[in-house]
Amino acid sequence: MDRLLPWSSVWITGASSGIGREVALLVAAAGARVAISARSGDRLADVAGRSERLTAVPLDVTDRAATAAAVDAIERAQGPLDLAILNAGVWQPMGARGFDAETSARSMEVNYLGLANALETLIPRMTGRGRGHIALVASVAGYRGLPQAAAYAPSKAAVISLAETLAPDLARQGVTLSVINPGFVDTPMTAVNRFPMPFLMPAEEAARRIVDGLARKKFEIAFPWQLVAMLKLARVLPYPAYFWFARSFLMPRRKGDG
Ligand SMILES: NC(=O)c1ccc[n+]([C@@H]2O[C@H](COP(=O)([O-])OP(=O)(O)OC[C@H]3O[C@@H](n4cnc5c(N)ncnc54)[C@H](OP(=O)(O)O)[C@@H]3O)[C@@H](O)[C@H]2O)c1
Repeated sequence: MDRLLPWSSVWITGASSGIGREVALLVAAAGARVAISARSGDRLADVAGRSERLTAVPLDVTDRAATAAAVDAIERAQGPLDLAILNAGVWQPMGARGFDAETSARSMEVNYLGLANALETLIPRMTGRGRGHIALVASVAGYRGLPQAAAYAPSKAAVISLAETLAPDLARQGVTLSVINPGFVDTPMTAVNRFPMPFLMPAEEAARRIVDGLARKKFEIAFPWQLVAMLKLARVLPYPAYFWFARSFLMPRRKGDG
C-alpha cells in the first residue's frame, strides 16, 4: 500500500482464511489495530500470530447475542471502530437437482443474516458518533441468478440490495457503506470448485483492491473488470436472451441436450 490508511480501529469477520485473512494482514501492516473473527479459534490464532496489531475474537456470526458482545468487547479493547468489514461467508453449489431447503437456510443464515446481526450493533454506534465505515462482502454472483448457485446467489443478491438500501440513509448520518463484489478469488472457498473459473485472482491481489477501494470510500468495489462487465451486461439482458446464454455457456452439458 503506497498510501496512509485512514483507519486505526478495524474489525474483519471471516478472517481466518482467504480474502478476510489477506485484508487483515494488509491493514495491520499499515498500522491499524485489527480484530479478526471466525469460528475456528486455532486458524484465527495462527493469523493473529502474524502481527501484534491483530487480535483474535472467535465468533459465529449467526449468533446474534454473541455478535453484539463481540463488537462491544472489540470497541472497549481497541477504541471505536472506524471500519468493519463483514466478510464471513459460505459457498455450497446447488442446482435444481438436489435442491434442499437446509442448504438455502445455511447460506442465508451466514451470508445475509450474519451481516444483519453485526449491522444491528454497528449502525447505532457509528451513527451515534456520526462517523465510521461498514463494508458488506457480497459477490458478482449476486448480480443475476446463476446456475448451480441456487443457495449462494440469492444470499448475495440480498446483500447487494441491503447495501443499496442502507447506503444513502447512512451517508446522511456520516457513515460510509460499501459493497464488495469479487469475481473468482483463489481461496479455500473456491479450491473445491470443479468448473472453470475465468480470471481467477490471487487472494493477496483481491485484498489490495479491496483496501484501495475502501480507502477511496467507493460504494461498490468489484473485480476483475472483465467478469464484472460480462455479468453486469447479463443483468440487463431480457430473460429469453439471458436464459439462452445461461444454458449455452454457464451450465454443464448433459447427455441428450440438443
Ligand atoms: N473466493 C471467491 O471467489 C469469492 C467470490 C466472491 C465473493 N466471495 C466472498 O468473500 C468472502 C470470503 O470468502 P473467501 O473466498 O475468502 O472464503 P474462505 O477462505 O472460505 O473464508 C470464509 C471465512 O468465513 C468464515 N466463516 C464461515 N462461516 C462463518 C460463521 N458462521 N461465523 C464466522 N465466520 C464464518 C470462515 O472461517 P470459519 O470456517 O473458521 O468460521 C472463513 O474465515 C465470502 O463472503 C465469500 O462469499 C468469495
